[in-house]
Amino acid sequence: MSRLLRGARLGSTKKDIVDFVSSLEADQRLLESVVKINKAHVVMMVDCKIVDQNKAAKLLNALNRIDVNADITKADSEDVHMYVEEIVTESVGSEIGGDLHIGKSRNDQVATAIRMKLREDLVELIFKLAELQSSILTVAEKHVGTVVPGYTHTQPAQPITFAHYLLSFFDAFNRDIERLTESYERVNQSPMGAGALAATSFPIDRERMAELLGFKGVMENSLDAVGSRDFMLEVQSCLTLAALNVTRLTEDLILWSSLAFGVIDLPDEFSSTSSMMPQKKNPEVLEVIRARMSHVAGGFLTTAMAMKSLPSGYNLDLQEITPILWETIECMSSSLSMLIALVPLLKISSVSSNLLDFTTSTELANVLTRKYKVPFRSAHRIVGALVEELVRQKQSLSDTTSELLESVSTRVSGIPLKVSAEDIRSCADPVQVVEAHKVKGGPSPEEVKRSLEARAQVLGIWKETLSKETDRLRKASDELQFLAEQYSTLSHGYSQGLRGWKST
Ligand code: ARG
Repeated sequence: MSRLLRGARLGSTKKDIVDFVSSLEADQRLLESVVKINKAHVVMMVDCKIVDQNKAAKLLNALNRIDVNADITKADSEDVHMYVEEIVTESVGSEIGGDLHIGKSRNDQVATAIRMKLREDLVELIFKLAELQSSILTVAEKHVGTVVPGYTHTQPAQPITFAHYLLSFFDAFNRDIERLTESYERVNQSPMGAGALAATSFPIDRERMAELLGFKGVMENSLDAVGSRDFMLEVQSCLTLAALNVTRLTEDLILWSSLAFGVIDLPDEFSSTSSMMPQKKNPEVLEVIRARMSHVAGGFLTTAMAMKSLPSGYNLDLQEITPILWETIECMSSSLSMLIALVPLLKISSVSSNLLDFTTSTELANVLTRKYKVPFRSAHRIVGALVEELVRQKQSLSDTTSELLESVSTRVSGIPLKVSAEDIRSCADPVQVVEAHKVKGGPSPEEVKRSLEARAQVLGIWKETLSKETDRLRKASDELQFLAEQYSTLSHGYSQGLRGWKST
């Protein structure tokens, strides 16, 4: 029970009631950020001559001694914000500790702490998406010439290559990275100084706070800063889109590894067997990932519903959506780690020619149009009738003879087509058909190689951007800690402190 907040306006309460509204457990991940915010706040208050250096030194000494890895979940505090203030007050007494909360509120503090933690999580998640892209590229490079059926309506449609298939996911995950990177800019804004809702009459410096905490800017309107969580919902919507991409990949791999499809061989370590049926190789890791992605989508909906029709300003409903964000991130992060390890171990089974049968029919129609000047709609009819005939005779497209094609074309369109055996053969060969599909973004090995090189460059840029941002955040954190230590040894009255100092 937060001792500091009882016995004035309100009398005591009961433990089960406190536990019911407490956020302490979920707050564990905010401890480090909350301590940093308090340090920055004290440094800023010295710079702005709100507290004197003696007091600030004592506050900072106490803050510097807080173990940010301590387990706070069993503490006797309402939330992490009260936990930190209570520890400081215990250590320096209420005369000094009582000034830690000048000009701030738990409302601006929690919004700031969530943004700081989310910033780190986002950098990590985006990095994992880029790692998954790396895995995809590594496997794709080996399969530029590996022909597999491409499907529509879960029916074999046209031949493509495994590399071309994999690159479709590289591009989808690239859009996820783009969206998350754009959202990151909106996450990276500091609400500090917004107070409970109306900022404060103390002469604080909100820009300085933002700078000390490594934010790009300030969330200006104080009511908006404390009462908005659209930054969370925005990230959750980006992650929901990423989750849907992940489920498409897992679903494909589950289907393709089934005996019925027989396209993919899953690595043993990512499969399980049955306790009864000894022949089974079940794609359980992929199934768990597929299911976990529904937590991500569900989290988006729960958050949206909690926010719908909330009145302006801070409401404790907002506390209830924070853990959903962390669960979403955890689901995404652990599932991505699995995929990063699984994808490089994927093997293509020797795709039986049955699977590719008739997938080149479109190319036969194309050739009838291109070379034999048959209108495409008629060519489509002729080849459709040819396939129907071949299926009835339990034959495949490669069994087509010039005579058969001539009789079918005469029957269905009155055109006695004389197509060379060579043309028929090349249209029935999936390798040659794939090679002919060389327009931009097509599956031909030539085009896929170009595409692979371009994507390797994109990936390099992402990784560089991410490591720059990691460095920037680390530098901001080091500078803040340096100041917190410097200010904890100063012992004069008011001064400009070490304002403007940079550690490098
Ligand atoms: N524990 C709260 C949260 O996680 C912090 C702010 C609480 N504010 C309040 N007035 N009770 O959102």
